[in-house]
Amino acid sequence: MGKVEQLWRHGLSRRQALAGLVSFLASSPLLNAQRDPWPLGPHRRFLGFDEMRDVFDFEPLFRANVPLSVYDYTAHGTESEFTLYRNRDAFDWVRLIGSGGVNPSDVDTSTELFGHRMASPIMLAPTARQRDLHPDGELGMHRAATTTSTTMIVSNVSSFPFPRIADAADGPLWFQRYATRELEPNRVALDAAQEAGAQTIVVTIDQQASYYERDLHVRHLGGAPRQVSRRTRPDPPNPYRVGAGRLWYEWQLFDDLRPLCEVPMLAKGILTGAGAKKCLDHGVDGIIVSNHGGRALDYGPSSLEVLEEVVEAVGGQVPVLIDSGFRRGSDALKALALGADAVCFGRASRWGLGAFGEPGAQKVIDILNAELKQAMATAGCASVAEIDRSIVTTSFP
Ligand SMILES: Cc1cc2nc3c(=O)[nH]c(=O)nc-3n(C[C@H](O)[C@H](O)[C@H](O)COP(=O)(O)O)c2cc1C
Repeated sequence: MGKVEQLWRHGLSRRQALAGLVSFLASSPLLNAQRDPWPLGPHRRFLGFDEMRDVFDFEPLFRANVPLSVYDYTAHGTESEFTLYRNRDAFDWVRLIGSGGVNPSDVDTSTELFGHRMASPIMLAPTARQRDLHPDGELGMHRAATTTSTTMIVSNVSSFPFPRIADAADGPLWFQRYATRELEPNRVALDAAQEAGAQTIVVTIDQQASYYERDLHVRHLGGAPRQVSRRTRPDPPNPYRVGAGRLWYEWQLFDDLRPLCEVPMLAKGILTGAGAKKCLDHGVDGIIVSNHGGRALDYGPSSLEVLEEVVEAVGGQVPVLIDSGFRRGSDALKALALGADAVCFGRASRWGLGAFGEPGAQKVIDILNAELKQAMATAGCASVAEIDRSIVTTSFP
């Protein structure tokens, strides 16, 4: 090593340069970018089941338990993930006004939807391929939902057929369908689900564009692109990088499916008042305000910020549900105050199942319900019927 290099290696200027770099990184806003808790940040060991305090605690354990591709499939959103993050940001734009005066043990979270009494307005959103998270998959999720008296929406893309999931426990189930253009496969799927006891049919219409670009950029294995799922394969059969089976959706779809449904039919993926009105025109019995958890159209709005517009357009004619970005009971309370009839949780339930199997999913639901009760008590609402617009103020941009 030459003299100049020796001087640089041991010299004051090098140490100053390193110190400068460290202090720059320490004060960088990048390190503070995540507003939600980062549960394992200060720990050198994994937390145990009894140490789970909120839903965020489950995510790192879920991540540690599954292959990276499964974690990524759950975690990511479309393209630059603007909408994925906006879904969480939106809760900062709604403030809860606490008036107190209710003991949490006196709070009644029960509610009614489509003639069915529910223990709580908290529900499980349909999410695909749950056996990738835990061998019990949707069977374990259904048992957890049943134990907690929670309504579960079973995905069209489940690891087990709907009747088998229905057999695993006796709690309420809804069935979610990605419709095909030909009517017959829809008829077969809807008949099977309704025969097995599906209380409603949810028709998802928002995933016309989905492209999990992040998957294609991951090159952990010596620079070679990691094997990607069928859904994200870089050579789709059309120029839009989305399964051709979902490219054709039009409002007429609901007219075609309505006669196949003996139970209420909901549209999932509505983000505008105009869209909600179209749904009503085409015979839909309920709306789910959703951007698919930031997995459909990037740079779209968060579902929370458009909820009131949809509720207003619907004018009480049918129930309005919501999902996307919900992680806490108080998040649910905000949506209920803005007019939602129920709130669905997607990733949160997957984190629970992936972290600890059925008991984990059960604990996630228990935590969410306890948080909702606590938040209702603090806001002065003894029942779901008492939750109204007066307990929130909003400052959506
Ligand atoms: C891994 C994953 C798989 C999903 N699969 C489906 C599905 O099969 N059908 C569907 O309608 N929505 C599906 N969704 C969307 C969810 O139903 C829901 O809209 C979304 O997860 C809500 O956002 P959250 O995860 O932030 O709670 C999926 C979401 C995730 C994260």
